[in-house]
Amino acid sequence: MAATFAVSELWDPAVRHDPHQFYDRVRETGRPVLQADPAGNRLWVVAGHADVLTGLRHPAIGHEVHRHCPVPQQPALDPQDEAARIEARQLISLDPPDHTRLRGLVSAGFTARAVARLEPWIHALADRLVANARRLGHVDGVADLADPVPVNVIAELVGVPEPDRPRFRAWSAAIVSASPDGRTATVEFAAYLDELAARRRADPADDLISELVALEDQAERLDRDELVALVQLLLIAGQETTVDLIVNGIRLLLTHPPQWQALREQPALAAAVVEETLRFRGPVEIVPPRFAFRDIEIGAERIPAYDRVGLSLWGANRDPAVFDRPHEFDIHRGDVRRHLAFGYGIHFCLGAHLARLESRIMFERIAQELPDLRLAVDPRDVDAFRLHRNELPLHV
Ligand code: HEM
Repeated sequence: MAATFAVSELWDPAVRHDPHQFYDRVRETGRPVLQADPAGNRLWVVAGHADVLTGLRHPAIGHEVHRHCPVPQQPALDPQDEAARIEARQLISLDPPDHTRLRGLVSAGFTARAVARLEPWIHALADRLVANARRLGHVDGVADLADPVPVNVIAELVGVPEPDRPRFRAWSAAIVSASPDGRTATVEFAAYLDELAARRRADPADDLISELVALEDQAERLDRDELVALVQLLLIAGQETTVDLIVNGIRLLLTHPPQWQALREQPALAAAVVEETLRFRGPVEIVPPRFAFRDIEIGAERIPAYDRVGLSLWGANRDPAVFDRPHEFDIHRGDVRRHLAFGYGIHFCLGAHLARLESRIMFERIAQELPDLRLAVDPRDVDAFRLHRNELPLHV
């Protein structure tokens, strides 16, 4: 039976409350479904695992639509608008060849082997957070356990000195808020990075900013706006997402007691907890929308040129064609590795190894050091879909 969809259902508060029933219905149609966003833009929502994969690797789907479309889809960039200029240079919204060049400059710093060097440092950070929680006896899982992890790790990697990190964290929150404060924060952040870059140019250290400064000095490889955009993206792409993963992992364990028990008995299961949390409740619902550069086909649907395409990772990760009992949280499942929580293809998450390492260490440490951890509120009062903006009160 063909399902019918209201054109803006995706943004409906009832659907926001539980998006999975919406994605289930989209998937069951076997094709993408057209939705109009609040601004009236056409967006094709894709929810089946095979279709999402097709979209993520499609050569005629991408971001820089102005290079393909005869009619401008966005207003021309004002060169005086620094925040807009930086935003336009972000890796995540570029196509080849600029995407390939910029990603190539930083990818070596994010391989499994490169990030493994940070493991002892992350262990020490996790130990401090867990010891602090033990001392307090009652904590907020968001502010006290998860939130300090990614900002400190990325600041360590980039080379932001410790006293500057609270400012670094505040900028990241302001930038993702997409408010006028975000634009101010982008400009302040850029000024701060200029200053940090000048210090490293005079006195290089073993950190990412020193490497990038060296590349910027060979002007054809990286310009100043690109440098700022890259560091800004590392900070914001890895902050809310990793916090969300750690907090949701804790919530899911504490609301599934046999699995929490299994992890306490066998902390090596922490890696499986990471993967199943990514599959079951990954931090990214839909990857940043792309455009079709020409008429294309996905599933049984023809998507007209220049329409927007919304590839739903939440939809893909609950596809019963790939995952057995997809709506069950189960850290023992064997099929989990096919999840798409980090995307796929050329934009595959640059920080995936780092995020896996940080969250695995946190789950291990929490299971070992805080065995009596439990929710301090009724689980029904925890809004699973907006958690990282709220709190997760815990008794230790
Ligand atoms: C890209 C998810 C953590 C840096 C992406 C994409 C996803 C994602 C789905 C692909 C977006 C697209 O295709 O448009 C996540 C999740 C994380 C996480 C679920 C945590 C659990 C991190 C961390 C960093 C990071 C810690 C930084 C160190 C990036 C960057 C990109 C990206 C730079 C853009 C890559 C490109 O365009 O080539 N991430 N991310 N992410 N992520 Fe992550």
